[in-house]
Amino acid sequence: MSFVSIREVGPRDGLQNEDPVPVDAKVRLLDALSATGVRRIEAVSFVHPKAIPQMADAAEVWQRAAKDPAVRYCALVPNTKGAERALAAGFTEIEVVVSASDTHNRRNVNRSTGESLDDIAGLIDLLHRAGATAEVIISTSFGCPFEGDIAPDRVAGIVDRVVADGADRVAFGDTTGMGTPRRVEEVVGRVRDRHPELPLLLHFHNTRGTALANVLTALRLGITEFDASVGGLGGCPYAPGATGNVATEEVVHMLHDMGYETGIDLTALIAVARLAQEIVGRELPSGVLKAGPRLPL
Ligand code: COA
Ligand code: ZN
Repeated sequence: MSFVSIREVGPRDGLQNEDPVPVDAKVRLLDALSATGVRRIEAVSFVHPKAIPQMADAAEVWQRAAKDPAVRYCALVPNTKGAERALAAGFTEIEVVVSASDTHNRRNVNRSTGESLDDIAGLIDLLHRAGATAEVIISTSFGCPFEGDIAPDRVAGIVDRVVADGADRVAFGDTTGMGTPRRVEEVVGRVRDRHPELPLLLHFHNTRGTALANVLTALRLGITEFDASVGGLGGCPYAPGATGNVATEEVVHMLHDMGYETGIDLTALIAVARLAQEIVGRELPSGVLKAGPRLPL
């Protein structure tokens, strides 16, 4: 049976788009997720506390979390300073983010895409010298809320650059939920032609209801790594009230029914989605959370 690797991003991408919650609650969520059988968790990010106050306590959250040796934890960073903080906190798997859209990159990290890429070249060296891995997340890969369409060739060009600079793997972020199956086919197809062996991970938001269709499309293109967020925790930074990341339970429910393994205990995951709901104090959008799984677990 084939294995699909799910990375749970609720503690970072989810919580950064919710009202801030206390350290205790973050640690409880991380520890509960670690016990679901999920193999990878994006735990925190090391960004400027003014940019994302929700992640200001990242080092403390990570220090207090009960790290399960069976889980690969990673941290997101926007620049070299963030990478230094992530290394100092003990992370060995680090993701650095850059936007395919120049406008979005400026809004997110206050510099052009080219400037971020220059910083990332040095950051990759720094991580490798420290024995850590470097994943580059290319956000707005399927469209930008400011610039609209992003040419797949632009995304592929960024991949060329970061691969040349030593990136261990690449992720495509559908930051604001503009992805559709057609766009997924175009971006993945373009990159696969140029880098057939490069590990790729896809990150979808369900802002416009296309996330599971995108996951299915990517699976059929041979992609086996996906981000998802428990309960569908989070939101879309440029669409107030919108749904967040694709819900982990929905992805797992669909994959298990299709015969894929994820290592995740869906019943346990649904219980964590309820905990997440309590923590953020609102109903989360996951259909599997609301309706229960249709199938025997
Ligand atoms: N963590 C904490 N502090 C940081 C930092 C980081 N990753 N990167 C820079 N800083 C500090 C610098 O040390 C400097 O401090 P000083 O004034 O005490 O010397 C100050 O911030 C300004 O540094 P500069 O490089 O000019 O940063 P900036 O003001 O241009 O902000 C980012 C750039 C990237 C730090 C900021 O935009 C950011 O954190 N963005 C993250 C956005 C995000 O997480 N989006 C969601 C995930 S995709
Ligand atoms: Zn996201």
